[in-house]
Amino acid sequence: MAGARAPLLEVTGLAKAFGPNAVLRDVSLRIAPASVHALLGENGAGKSTLTRVLLGVERADAGAVLLGGARYAPASAEGARRAGVVLVPQERTLCAHLSVADNVVLGIEPAARARPGLRDRERARAVARGAIALVAADPARVPLDAPAGDLGVADQQLVEIARALAQGGLREDGRLAARLLVLDEPTSSLGHEDARRLFERVRALRDAGVAVLLVTHFLSDVRAHADRYTVLRDGRVAGEGDPRETDPAQIVREMLGRALDAPRAGSGAPPPGRGEVVLEARDVAGARRPRRASLSLHRGEILGIAGLVGSGRTELLRILAGLDPRRGGAVTLRAPRGVGLLSEDRGGEGLMLGRSIAENVWLSPRAPRLAAPRSLLSEAARWIERLAIRAGGPDQRAGELSGGNQQKVQIARLLREDFDVLLMDEPTRGIDVASKAQVLSLFRELAGAGKAIVLVSSQLDELVATCDRIAVLRRGILDPPRPASSWTEASLLLEASS
Ligand SMILES: Nc1ncnc2c1ncn2[C@@H]1O[C@H](COP(=O)(O)OP(=O)(O)OP(=O)(O)O)[C@@H](O)[C@H]1O
Ligand SMILES: [Mg+2]
Repeated sequence: MAGARAPLLEVTGLAKAFGPNAVLRDVSLRIAPASVHALLGENGAGKSTLTRVLLGVERADAGAVLLGGARYAPASAEGARRAGVVLVPQERTLCAHLSVADNVVLGIEPAARARPGLRDRERARAVARGAIALVAADPARVPLDAPAGDLGVADQQLVEIARALAQGGLREDGRLAARLLVLDEPTSSLGHEDARRLFERVRALRDAGVAVLLVTHFLSDVRAHADRYTVLRDGRVAGEGDPRETDPAQIVREMLGRALDAPRAGSGAPPPGRGEVVLEARDVAGARRPRRASLSLHRGEILGIAGLVGSGRTELLRILAGLDPRRGGAVTLRAPRGVGLLSEDRGGEGLMLGRSIAENVWLSPRAPRLAAPRSLLSEAARWIERLAIRAGGPDQRAGELSGGNQQKVQIARLLREDFDVLLMDEPTRGIDVASKAQVLSLFRELAGAGKAIVLVSSQLDELVATCDRIAVLRRGILDPPRPASSWTEASLLLEASS
């Protein structure tokens, strides 16, 4: 029984503030060796901050941490690594143009110090190969020499984990030495099947003796894969226990401090008034994906697109938005106020992290030329309120926000431009359960006011609950949409993976 053993990691009374903002308050938690420990909480609850303290990237203001019974206070990520504590952060870190092997050993390879000899390079490659073998059930899917950017997101995520493990170093016997692997929302960009594969590997690592601290918003994953859970609310521990013995509704209450509002009565609501067609695609084909996609999008509706990672969903949206060239077919837009895309790629095309929330809401990232006038600060404050963005105020730097709150700033920026057609690529990624319901009901409200929305999501329950019609994209080919009421999560999954 894991709970009876001495803990691998014991955190007591940890506190951390940024200026006046207390982010962690008196946090205590114990992680058993060779266990999967889930860390839950709303956006901005302090989860990533706790992981950064454990990694020595942020310094705690108070409290103590024991690792294997010894005092543990790393001054840097390097110190944490030497103690066997490694992190896969919330934001992706791979260099797309470097090979898988180079990414895995980046920063630890002897080449970083001096001119590498052949033996060093062989050793680095052996480390990379060993780490990949630990995380990939089928290492052939993750070739060492392939540029990391050529892999699908799921395999890139495995490379991130391999890299973290390799950074934990090797023991005398050549095995990896990491004792605690911290995964900050590892499945937020993954589809169902890829997430399942990833958890298979997480379990294998646990069985090999590694403790895993898993930050996630997915309660079903916690129930299926975690041995213990801890909930943070406003930087305090608000609940903990065995997820298999705890009612999920109770965990949600611990996260929110209240029960979750009842979801929108999907099929009971009056059928939304569908207006004229504002966007029409006929036999659209892209450079690689999609291969053939036709759809008619009406004012007042939310059209869902389901499909596995790699099926071409993002590529289709980018073509509909006019960002990528078409190889065939036709797109007709009949919308005076144009079309806006919420990008899946938060880091790359998304926020200006050094700028304020107000500037991010008001300026286009492609033309960051004006400062936000005062009146716009109050307008931004309204968006902060409307989307329940957790922030000090509209002038806080976007880079200081938690991951989920950064995502909400992106949604605010898109919505304030008042486009007729909204293309949403994984809009709720990284957003907590309560905010998710809120964002989705805002989409319904917008559709009710005459907007036309295309919603791409890997969360099939979200599609079924929110959309009017859903179409499945399979290997680049879009099937005709059907009413959402005719789909279930299970039938969508079956169709998407058939
Ligand atoms: N460098 C910083 N300066 C100021 N405030 C910060 C800084 N880093 C984090 N914060 C604040 O700390 C709080 C907790 O952030 P954290 O990233 O830990 O949340 P989280 O629980 O990981 O949320 P999410 O689910 O959205 O990822 C947030 O209110 C955030 O704005
Ligand atoms: Mg976070």
